[in-house]
Amino acid sequence: MANSYNVAILPGDGTGPEVTAEAVKVLDAISAKHGFTLNKTDYDFGGERYMKTGEICPDSFVDELRKQDAILLGAIGHPEVKPGILEKGLLLKLRFELDQYINLRPVKLYPGVETPLKDKGPSEIDYVVIRENTGGIYTGTGGVSMYGTANETVVQSMVYSRFQVERCLRYAFDYAEKYGKKSSGKGDANTLGLVGKTNVLTYVFDLWERAFHEVGAAEYKDVARDYYHVDATCMWMVKSPEWFDVLVTSNMFGDIITDLGAITQGGMGIAAGGNINPEGVSMFEPIGGSAPKYTGKNVINPLAAICAGAMMLQTLGEDAAAKEIEDAVKDITANKIDGLAAGKMGYSTSEVGDMVAKAVS
Ligand code: IPM
Ligand code: MN
Repeated sequence: MANSYNVAILPGDGTGPEVTAEAVKVLDAISAKHGFTLNKTDYDFGGERYMKTGEICPDSFVDELRKQDAILLGAIGHPEVKPGILEKGLLLKLRFELDQYINLRPVKLYPGVETPLKDKGPSEIDYVVIRENTGGIYTGTGGVSMYGTANETVVQSMVYSRFQVERCLRYAFDYAEKYGKKSSGKGDANTLGLVGKTNVLTYVFDLWERAFHEVGAAEYKDVARDYYHVDATCMWMVKSPEWFDVLVTSNMFGDIITDLGAITQGGMGIAAGGNINPEGVSMFEPIGGSAPKYTGKNVINPLAAICAGAMMLQTLGEDAAAKEIEDAVKDITANKIDGLAAGKMGYSTSEVGDMVAKAVS
């Protein structure tokens, strides 16, 4: 029997609905060709609905999502809603409550895409960042006292348990074993690099580093291990990105270095990521924001959302379909569009979606 998957579509705010529509167009085209079915349920949660109703999402929403096989998200963020409300009330809520403890962010320069890195091309900029996604400062305890006075005092802690660290490391070792550069014919060894700050955050990254070497030595003898401080990592991501294969890091460091990574791969028009619960429901998103100033203009680049759709298919086990989408995107960046920036593609949002859909039909 043909495979069939239940997928929640959450277009969200700003240009989110436009790019999500193109991703869905491509997914429909490829599923028809590969003979699997996507049963889609649309949800309109986001800034607009919050402004109208005062509610971000009902408690039943997360339970409904638990029954899905995957979630495709457009963008969250509305210029008239105070920063933090939608992020915490929707995006982070879903990551935490669905226990999507991995944030998988490939940093891959596609052919024909301009990078700000001098003398670097697709063979140099090709690695993956695995960001721990449900712990650290993002979910650590904190508080404020004497708010608004000269004595205001705040604390926001970076909290990690051995359990959280180990499960993230195991995912990263598995990923490096399966998809590392040697396996794909590009390097001497599959290497997992731990990105930390053992010279200052001596409790948190001591735990990460010990767990890294213990788990690696005991269970992943064929994966080489490297350690980099996070500040030096930023330097090498610019100077020598070709050194990297698979990187694993904490939530906050991963958030920061993946924006740097995204700009080296051509920016937010192309960067996609997955919020992954390897034992549950995962959520895929273009990592750029809602870009409100381009809303409704049919100029935003849908390729990141399309690539998020491809990552979703890969996680569902439809590897061949995912690769076909990626190949079509590469052909478009190499041979068709003028650039990745909104309004600079030489085509509209829907025309770019049509091109990918046609290529995979
Ligand atoms: C990201 C974003 C989010 C994060 C924000 C919007 C809460 O920057 O997905 O990287 O910090 O994780
Ligand atoms: Mn971020």
